[in-house]
Amino acid sequence: MTPDTAVFSPAQRVRAIHVSEILRITDQANALKRAGRPVIVLGAGEPDFDTPHNIREAAMRAIEKGDTRYTVLDGSPAMKAAVQLKFRRDNALDFALDEISVSAGAKQVIFNALMASLDPGDEVILPAPYWTSYADIVQICGGVPVPVACSEENGFRLTAAQLEAAITPRTRWLFLNSPSNPSGAAYSAAQLQPLCDVLLRHPQVWVLADDIYEHILYDGLAFATPVAIEPRLRERTLTVNGVSKAYAMTGWRLGYGAGPRALIAAMAVVQSQSTSCPSSITQAAAIEALTGPQEIVAERCADFQARRDFVVAALNRMPGLHCRVPEGAFYTFASCAGVLGKRTRGGALLQTDSDFCRYLLQDFEVAVVPGSVFGLAPYFRISYATSMAQLEEACTRIAAACEALE
Ligand SMILES: Cc1ncc(COP(=O)(O)O)c(C=O)c1O
Repeated sequence: MTPDTAVFSPAQRVRAIHVSEILRITDQANALKRAGRPVIVLGAGEPDFDTPHNIREAAMRAIEKGDTRYTVLDGSPAMKAAVQLKFRRDNALDFALDEISVSAGAKQVIFNALMASLDPGDEVILPAPYWTSYADIVQICGGVPVPVACSEENGFRLTAAQLEAAITPRTRWLFLNSPSNPSGAAYSAAQLQPLCDVLLRHPQVWVLADDIYEHILYDGLAFATPVAIEPRLRERTLTVNGVSKAYAMTGWRLGYGAGPRALIAAMAVVQSQSTSCPSSITQAAAIEALTGPQEIVAERCADFQARRDFVVAALNRMPGLHCRVPEGAFYTFASCAGVLGKRTRGGALLQTDSDFCRYLLQDFEVAVVPGSVFGLAPYFRISYATSMAQLEEACTRIAAACEALE
């Protein structure tokens, strides 16, 4: 074997892709922890409570009764019926079973949809700040991410004028994620309508509505999703959701999408040649999550709201930081513009949000994620899906970090 052939060379399609920066920061924080440093990690995008008992028991029953074989490739009929019921109950949307696709996580639903629909050079509009994986998945699938910076003044929401300006003949998809990771911003029906009006004028643009944080919405706000408020978009919208966030099931891996039959069928082809089907045991658990008692969802949401209120108030007292009140999800997205240009006690100049986050981790042992990772600087994201005690300690440290700047 020549040295050339022995050297691994990644395929062109993955050269621009990175392992998520969030995972990198989390790994770094965990390495510091292993070295004995008392690091608080506010990076993870997952609830800190356990999967409810009734859901775990449904999985155990499935194992005991031998529900351990391949299922229909994009979800068993019972699983799809549970998704159908969820859309009727929560969103007043009616989907036939062949308009529903079930995968190993919402992430795989998104991946399947783009793999099934993007040709090289097709554009995908990503209102920024956006979940980092969107841009990477678009690129793996040969598309071109088109980030559009959404200002804090407009609540980190895309405006109709921005959408109109971003659409080109190559635009294939618009991604909407409400409530949003990382900003926590949510769109009301009235705020979505002007975007829908623009989309009605551009029939080549499809909509991917990522509703994964649907049930983590505060202050009594009503959840809105594009198809429910503009039925004329139904023939070109994929509504994505999953059990990871609402039922604390991140490790089980189950997400679903509902949309036009032709797209769902093409996504099934992609899935058939990758993972074959979602886990049969996870499907049993997810059926229980979607059709069993729902009280836990509102209880957890109330817990998250108390944590949001604490973190936002604390951030807004810190010199150089300010934070808009997010409507949902479990993240704050605070501006650190007011600390840039300052120096740490060690003499380092903070020039970017990444510098600020590095300083917080190295000198004050709090791991958070810079806004630049999500396509909008200078901000930083805190995931407050952790205990109140940890949040109090973390906020004390971040406040001390801000006060120590010169
Ligand atoms: C906006 C958004 N969409 C989708 C996902 C993926 O969810 P799942 O665990 O179902 O793949 C996440 C996870 O962090 C997310 O933040």
